[in-house]
Amino acid sequence: MIGNFPLTRMRRNRIDSATRRLVAENKLSKDDLIWPIFIIEGNNIETEVSSMPGIKRVTVDRLAAYIEPAANLDIPALALFPVTTNDKRDPEGKEAYNPDNLICRASRELKKRFPEILLIGDVALDPYTSHGHDGIIKNGYVANDETIEILVRQSINQARAGMDFIAPSDMMDGRVAAIRKALDNDNFVNTRIMSYAAKYASVYYGPFRDALESGKLLKGDKKTYQMDPANSREALSEVELDIQEGADSVIIKPGLPYLDIIRMVRDRFNIPIVSYQVSGEYAMLKNAINRGYLDNNQAILETLLCFKRAGANAVMTYFAPVAAKLLKQL
Ligand code: PBG
Repeated sequence: MIGNFPLTRMRRNRIDSATRRLVAENKLSKDDLIWPIFIIEGNNIETEVSSMPGIKRVTVDRLAAYIEPAANLDIPALALFPVTTNDKRDPEGKEAYNPDNLICRASRELKKRFPEILLIGDVALDPYTSHGHDGIIKNGYVANDETIEILVRQSINQARAGMDFIAPSDMMDGRVAAIRKALDNDNFVNTRIMSYAAKYASVYYGPFRDALESGKLLKGDKKTYQMDPANSREALSEVELDIQEGADSVIIKPGLPYLDIIRMVRDRFNIPIVSYQVSGEYAMLKNAINRGYLDNNQAILETLLCFKRAGANAVMTYFAPVAAKLLKQL
């Protein structure tokens, strides 16, 4: 204090918008955004996911029109998720490596229409299994090594269909190494692996399972392979292993409730980190926005900026096109 006055006034750096911009430590940009998309079978159909207001499932023929605004806003990447009809599901998830499955048709169509947009293929068997689990079941347990054999075939199938990134979200042990080796052997040396390294057994995936219509099928829970929300150091081991096995970037999931995990991984490793703001987070925010409890633009931009502050390089978010548009207007 000098007399009655504070010597340091923190508020000086907040005095006007230009000063605030100059001293800002983190910035959200369109380059940080990945947009997850749901694809359905059929022609000329769009259906809304009831628990995710504003989010649609679209048929392949409508995909180009659906993502064109995002392409024009220069969003760098899309993550594709197929809704598989029950007749194509079986206990082993064989549809996962059918070269003409929905996700492959979508990938080829998008690559043809928007060659510069990166495509991220989710690798796990839950869209294809009749029991809704991410792997095949032996004696009541999701069998690790047998599942990996199918995940490898699924990965090659997606790489051949043009996916730039293979994103294993199944949480089997050792799958990154197996997928990397298979991709290299098949000459996909530059197909990147963005692994879901720390994926928690979370209630926040509920609306996603509605979107994929796998929620009703799922027997039991995913706690024998997805992580326990009680743990954080375990996430460091998961990330370390995926880096050793050849991951090019890692995903931490869910997003907002797990910002501490992003920070811990950022402080320890140099690998790029992607945070996934999942379906349940979208549902919470969007419902509060729709009821007028939160301001739409501020809620979206503040929330996404927090991922950057925690240390994420990029964010997968259902708000991606809206956020890119808002950022352009700033
Ligand atoms: C599939 C997968 C899930 C999500 C992404 N990939 C669901 C799950 O593991 O049950 C969830 C994404 C979201 O909730 O937005 N393995």
